[in-house]
Amino acid sequence: MAHRAQLDRRTFLRGAGAAALLGGARPISALDFSSGSLNPGSQVVDFDAPFDRTGTDCTKWDGAVQDYGDVIEFGMGIADTDFRTAPCITRALAERCAHENWGYLRRPAKYAEAVSEWNQRRYGVEIDPGDLVWTTGVHSALIAALQTFAPPGTRVLMTTPVYSGFYTDLRFTRTVAEDSQMTLEDGRYSIDYDDFERRAARSNVFILCNPQNPTGNCWSPEDLMRMGEICLRHRVVVLADEIHCDFVNHGQTYTPFASLPDREIVNNSLTYKAASKSFNLAAMKVSWYYSTNPDLLARVRSNTRADMPTLGLVANHAALTEGEPWLDQLLPYVDANQDFAEQYIRDHVPHVTYRKAEGTYLAWLDVSEVVEAIGAKDTATRESVASVNPVAPEDVVQRWFAENAGVFLGPGNDYGTGGAGHMRMNLGTQRRRIQHALDNMAAALAQI
Ligand SMILES: Cc1ncc(COP(=O)(O)O)c(C=O)c1O
Repeated sequence: MAHRAQLDRRTFLRGAGAAALLGGARPISALDFSSGSLNPGSQVVDFDAPFDRTGTDCTKWDGAVQDYGDVIEFGMGIADTDFRTAPCITRALAERCAHENWGYLRRPAKYAEAVSEWNQRRYGVEIDPGDLVWTTGVHSALIAALQTFAPPGTRVLMTTPVYSGFYTDLRFTRTVAEDSQMTLEDGRYSIDYDDFERRAARSNVFILCNPQNPTGNCWSPEDLMRMGEICLRHRVVVLADEIHCDFVNHGQTYTPFASLPDREIVNNSLTYKAASKSFNLAAMKVSWYYSTNPDLLARVRSNTRADMPTLGLVANHAALTEGEPWLDQLLPYVDANQDFAEQYIRDHVPHVTYRKAEGTYLAWLDVSEVVEAIGAKDTATRESVASVNPVAPEDVVQRWFAENAGVFLGPGNDYGTGGAGHMRMNLGTQRRRIQHALDNMAAALAQI
């Protein structure tokens, strides 16, 4: 820690406000929602404003400290964001909290209508509100689908590296991962279709991640059609997880699987969504799935039970009906974070390479040189002998960055085949924090 840039969390919180690049516009403050005339579209949100989440039992910061102790200065792991929420959400929650009763809840049509209108407006996808099934998170929804289509012991196809959480869903349903490792050229991942088809032929289900966590790939209509066509031919049901779909960087496009021009391909799928990434509502536990195929939908629905939380529905309704202007300011900010990280890593951080993601607020860092430089493979082999669970070189790299740079990153081996030599860094935070974390990493790496 001695080499680390001399910027700790407290210094950051004191100083970062001065860096707000507002050009004189009035930022939305915590309590602006008290104004009845607030029009969030007319105000500039200050995403640079410092915001401290420590001490709230959040996984991203408090969980990292729990794992590695007080050396942690920057929690850059789990996929949520560090910004003050949209004022419309705080206002709706405050109004609901003022009525102090928390009994069982109905779910009037306005909730499903808000989801349907949002999807129509933003992505051009028509969803009949009656075809929408609520769940308390995408995980429980995927688990219901796996329990429907993939009995224990059967295989679930994924293009890897892919979101680590899918593997926990597979463990829960006792299904088997069928990793189709993507090929990597000039920092961009592509699907190896021969491998994909060979594995599809022995799988029951394909979990599509679009945009893909952790690589950021926004799949093109051609790729989606090709994957969809292979899955249809081999009777593999497509579960399209599109939870990251709002985070699409400039020059890129999000194509909803359900918008593909071939009805048979679309009818072989279910789509999984939430506002939880876009509005940082992950612990509010609201998500939904839908399908154009009434048979698939009915089968999964019969395995789904979700009693929705009051505050979750209130927050989601506010986000979907009033939060768009806020989100439309967040997205370019996060896109600029991605540009910033790519450039800053290239200019300042030795042994790490990063090519900007097409979507998501995640950065998939190539740290293969760090693995070599710190002897992570030997350490992992040695520690595995003494440990009940195998230790991967990326686990060693995670610990090394935590202890030497105070930065918590996600180890690449958690993301399936092809995750070796990588770490996932969450860029959904204030830009100054990204800079400080990268400075810390650069200072530590300069010593090796
Ligand atoms: C691709 C993807 N799917 C699902 C989830 C988790 O969704 P939920 O919190 O709604 O269960 C995440 C969280 O990071 C994710 O990245």
